[in-house]
Amino acid sequence: MRTDTGQIVHLADYRPTDFVLERVDLTFELDPTETKVETRMIFHRREGVDASAPLVLDGDELSLSGLLFDQNEIPAGQYDLSPERLVIRDLPESKPFEITVTTIINPEANTQLMGLYRSNGIYCTQCEAEGFRRITYFPDRPDVLAPFTVNIIADKEANPLLLSNGNFLGGAGYGPGKHFAAWFDPHPKPSYLFALVAGDLGVVEDTFVTMSEREVALKIYVEHGKEARAAYAMDALKRSMKWDEEVFGREYDLDIFMIVAVSDFNMGAMENKGLNIFNDKYVLADPETATDQDYANIEAIIAHEYFHNWTGNRITCRDWFQLCLKEGLTVYRDHEFSADQRSRAVKRIAEVRHLRSEQFTEDSGPLAHPVRPTSYREINNFYTTTVYEKGSEVTRMIATILGGELFKKGMDLYFERHDGDAATVEDFVKCFEDASGRDLKQFSLWYHQAGTPQITVSSAFDAATGTLTLSLDQMVPATPGQTSKEPMHIPLKTGLLLEDGTIVTPSAVTGGEMTDDVLHLTERSQKFVFTGIPSRPTVSLNRGFSAPVSLHFDQSGADLSLIARHESDLFARWQALTNLALPVLTAAAAQARKGETVQSDAMLTETLLAIAANETLEPAFRAQALALPSEADIARELGSDNDPDAIHTGRETVLTAIAKAGADVFAKLMADMADTGAYKPDAADAGRRALKNAALSYLALAEQSPARAAAAFDKADNMTDLAQALTVLAHRFPQAAETATALQAFEARFSSNALVLDKWFSIQATIPGADALERIEKLMTNEHYNPANPNRVRSLIGTFAFANATGFNRADGAAYRFHAARILEIDKRNPQLAARLLTAMRSWRSLEPSRADLARTALMEIERSAGLSTDVRDIVDRMLKA
Ligand code: TRP
Ligand code: ZN
Repeated sequence: MRTDTGQIVHLADYRPTDFVLERVDLTFELDPTETKVETRMIFHRREGVDASAPLVLDGDELSLSGLLFDQNEIPAGQYDLSPERLVIRDLPESKPFEITVTTIINPEANTQLMGLYRSNGIYCTQCEAEGFRRITYFPDRPDVLAPFTVNIIADKEANPLLLSNGNFLGGAGYGPGKHFAAWFDPHPKPSYLFALVAGDLGVVEDTFVTMSEREVALKIYVEHGKEARAAYAMDALKRSMKWDEEVFGREYDLDIFMIVAVSDFNMGAMENKGLNIFNDKYVLADPETATDQDYANIEAIIAHEYFHNWTGNRITCRDWFQLCLKEGLTVYRDHEFSADQRSRAVKRIAEVRHLRSEQFTEDSGPLAHPVRPTSYREINNFYTTTVYEKGSEVTRMIATILGGELFKKGMDLYFERHDGDAATVEDFVKCFEDASGRDLKQFSLWYHQAGTPQITVSSAFDAATGTLTLSLDQMVPATPGQTSKEPMHIPLKTGLLLEDGTIVTPSAVTGGEMTDDVLHLTERSQKFVFTGIPSRPTVSLNRGFSAPVSLHFDQSGADLSLIARHESDLFARWQALTNLALPVLTAAAAQARKGETVQSDAMLTETLLAIAANETLEPAFRAQALALPSEADIARELGSDNDPDAIHTGRETVLTAIAKAGADVFAKLMADMADTGAYKPDAADAGRRALKNAALSYLALAEQSPARAAAAFDKADNMTDLAQALTVLAHRFPQAAETATALQAFEARFSSNALVLDKWFSIQATIPGADALERIEKLMTNEHYNPANPNRVRSLIGTFAFANATGFNRADGAAYRFHAARILEIDKRNPQLAARLLTAMRSWRSLEPSRADLARTALMEIERSAGLSTDVRDIVDRMLKA
């Protein structure tokens, strides 16, 4: 493993390479421990570059076994070599030349899962961001684009399948027991999009006819015997291809599109040109083994990777500071796709829930950074929720500010102007400015200023003149490296609701710009005056979550309840319910902390039960309403001095009061939402199951008995219901005999399905309470646990740290020490995974002082350790920095 060099990369230092890469020809002779890679590259010196400038190639833990210039050996004196760099001097001034690099690598020993590695006997690659340099010496940066030819030679019996990017050129036998295949990708691409897969896999095949009537072969490769479980992924792929043609006008551009599912993978999936590689968790599904959430994730990630073909591959990033250019935009595209495939409002609620719990948390802690950062120590650590999810929100705001038509015009201009380019965020924004004539200079601060803007709102209505005055103040909090901030351009969709829920359109607005229903807040402090309002309106602000901000608007219970009942925007209704619930839950936490009796709130209970029983509302929406703000949401609302036990106790008490008051409503819901025929993973059926399971969870609280959940477990005919019933049993009745029986039955039934056992680990990892740690330690010795597989580690260690607040933050700090020990262990094998898991402690400073102290001690334990990877070193240093 490479340890930290302390080197920092700065955006300001960007300059193009001295040499232009014209094409690449790779030959792999695959072997589990000694794979030979021959890389032939044609370069020429860039115009204007000094004739003495050397060619600098990147490497990572490489050993060189051959180096040629135009097929002649380069003398030792002409180059400098280290595992991380190859520098070749005395190269031609203007004519093109060929460099041939030969390296020997060991896929079997590659536990980092970056570069070429083996997963369950399958050779596969992961090259983003800087994995290609673990395969060969190369200008491994996204602004170096070239067409690739790839020849693969391997043992025929073990590797009947030999895949790479682009179109298949041909294959043949290659000596005794071996064969070879050749692939050519005509689309110039950077090395991070290179992929190779070899092994023995089953396949599901289909075809897609594009808008210009070209037939594309579609293939999804999975382990033998799992083909049936790839059917939903294939369906999602075809829907994605169609949607991208219809909504963004984007057509696929090769004869074949392949997806390979592997079981050892650091992230969700990877968009390699024509050959996406997936974590099998996001490909495999059937009703018996996958939950509704799994289906939704598969649909979203299949779409995401496919959409990268245009936003990421055809137009790539100039440098890694521009990561949001492909990720934020592609997340926006997959969000829109899912919204069109499912219920737009419910999808939006889920997105915002996720954004708040992950991105807002990141943005308010030591790891906060802008959507487009200006420096990094380890790029792997910038695949963050800020780059992805906030990046998506920034794109969404451009669409909101410009309106649908001009946004589309800007996107079309982007595709036309930058196809084939390695582009920047500035290039992207310029397309929207040029297409719309609108100045987006102030808006661009969204890319550059970190921190969640805090908006304080007050309103006053003058009945005599029919005038409403809305006063808005914005403040962007200080974040690491950014102490003072400029006011931002914040687009707030706004509705003024009369008592019956109708929206009034003011006759005039002064004090700032309003386009359609969007208020443009651009100043630090701004007063919008609306005239022609017949009676006192209720203000519904940030409808649809048009801007990723925190609103501080002291609205009365009556106003919130009006919005909750009458808004036409369902997101706003859900938000109003959340705003009703949060003060109740924070007060409950405070009461629990002081040992006082926790008060529930009649108005909240009544409103929620009315929503639950309201049959005009879609079940998925009602389920979202019943899922009160999470413990993490409450902690964020409280801000500092958090006691996770008090938050938990307070919330449980409020939930129980709602459960008891609504027992009849919930019992009826369980009956009404019961199965209707065969399982279908669509949004409507998933919504019914979500509502039924929400009701089950409340009933378990009301009845204080495991009986109902045990019955639901026995009766379940799909994984959604089964996993939910098991969760209720384990979380509410950890000591009950029914729970032990169900856990055992689940483990026995799915003992040969690792992905399902991940759920079994996660459900147990999130059982609240201080004894969780002992449970985790015991589960680590389970025969199905495998510390080398990232999915297993995430499901147990990751879920415990990220999603079990009371267990992980137990008062004696034992779980922090446990986590630190795990991080050090995992770091030796897989630094990327270790660093990601470590971020679970990013909010340590907002804990009450005694826990915060214990957390700091554990972090310092990590920081003191010798031989940390750059990944973990970078995260731990930033987390401890004052
Ligand atoms: N680009 C990929 C995506 O968003 C994710 C990715 C980045 C990745 N780096 C990775 C996946 C490393 C696996 C390993 O879809
Ligand atoms: Zn992506």
